Amino acid sequence: MGKNILLGITGGIAAYKTAAAASALTKLGHNVLTVMTESACEFITPMTLQSLTGNPVEVEMFSPPERFEVKHISLADRADVTLVAPATGNFIGKLAGGIADDLLSTIIMATRSKVLIAPAMNVNMYQDASLQENLAILEERGYQIIEPESGYLACGYEGSGRMPEAETLVKRVQEHLAVKDLSRFKILITAGPTREPLDPVRFFSNYSSGRMGYALAERAAVRGAEVTLISGPTALDPPPGVRLIGVEQAREMKEIVMEELAGKDAIIMAAAVADYRPADYQEEKIKKQEQELNQVALKENPDILSAVRENKTEEQVLVGFAAESGRILERGRDKFRSKAPDMLVVNDISRSDRGFAAETNAGYILTGDKELELSLRSKIKFAEAVLDEIKELAFQAGG
Ligand code: C5P
Repeated sequence: MGKNILLGITGGIAAYKTAAAASALTKLGHNVLTVMTESACEFITPMTLQSLTGNPVEVEMFSPPERFEVKHISLADRADVTLVAPATGNFIGKLAGGIADDLLSTIIMATRSKVLIAPAMNVNMYQDASLQENLAILEERGYQIIEPESGYLACGYEGSGRMPEAETLVKRVQEHLAVKDLSRFKILITAGPTREPLDPVRFFSNYSSGRMGYALAERAAVRGAEVTLISGPTALDPPPGVRLIGVEQAREMKEIVMEELAGKDAIIMAAAVADYRPADYQEEKIKKQEQELNQVALKENPDILSAVRENKTEEQVLVGFAAESGRILERGRDKFRSKAPDMLVVNDISRSDRGFAAETNAGYILTGDKELELSLRSKIKFAEAVLDEIKELAFQAGG
């Protein structure tokens, strides 16, 4: 269901990214109501926003309304969430100081909706003490600041002050509109590969990107869960609001998982844990030899999932992942019986569009009394489906 998003634009060059965000939010079915300051109109025109959102754009404080209503109050009341992007240093100062001298600042003083602020400015302005104090005041009052990124700034400087891309703005807005149906849940998630060292410079590992586990962590957090993510090395940023514990080896992952187990409602083991590790770690780097090196003995790693199964309570929902190729459903059923989690998610890794390093996934969710096929979809959507099933199982387990 579409929501009312109040979009405030102040005068900065980053306003062009806001236009892209307004378009994306409209395509997602939201009703985007734009208010621009006079200086914003120097960078982008109200016509652009009007065309992209299909709604009239407000600029003037005292323009005659189409029907009688107090404009700033009606806009403030209708907002389910408010986003100010870009927010200039001047505008942030006005909000912090309680000044309402134009339509946008007046609306923000009047709204009861959550307000997200995306500062965008020169790096020196961003680091200015008064600006930082003003941001701290806004955070204290419950505004959410969308941190600027570092990089090339339009003024020619390099540094922090660059507004994130439209995609990030859209994501943050969506997070606020999400249904918080997992808000009493505590979830432990393992993700990524493990690294099993052979000598100080070499290790055994696998192609797991960590994407599936990170997608689960992101969606669970957005839906209000308290998420602990125990991850092997990946190239991914931890999702906002998630507690990340980085590990390398399987044995280390097991230790942390066992420490963190108590009190969790669900444990999702999406990590691709290496089954074996080099039996003898060489303290010195192995030197190149004349003849072939064919004697790397391997030793079995502990099975973390089994250890959790033996130590968990009946109410805790344990979810395993199985990466299979070939007859994946049959193999999945066998694994469900042998590993005996409460739920097994089976992926096909024999194709490049699913499993392991892909952006998309497809497979099956197996529980004691259900077999659900999940068609090819993004890992985010796949994660949503897995979380829906976990919620149902936890509800059954908890009564
Ligand atoms: O048996 P298989 O490795 O296919 O099982 C995969 C599931 O078991 C995954 O959920 C994975 O995180 C977990 N696992 C584990 N410890 C291992 C190997 C796999 O927890 N040593």
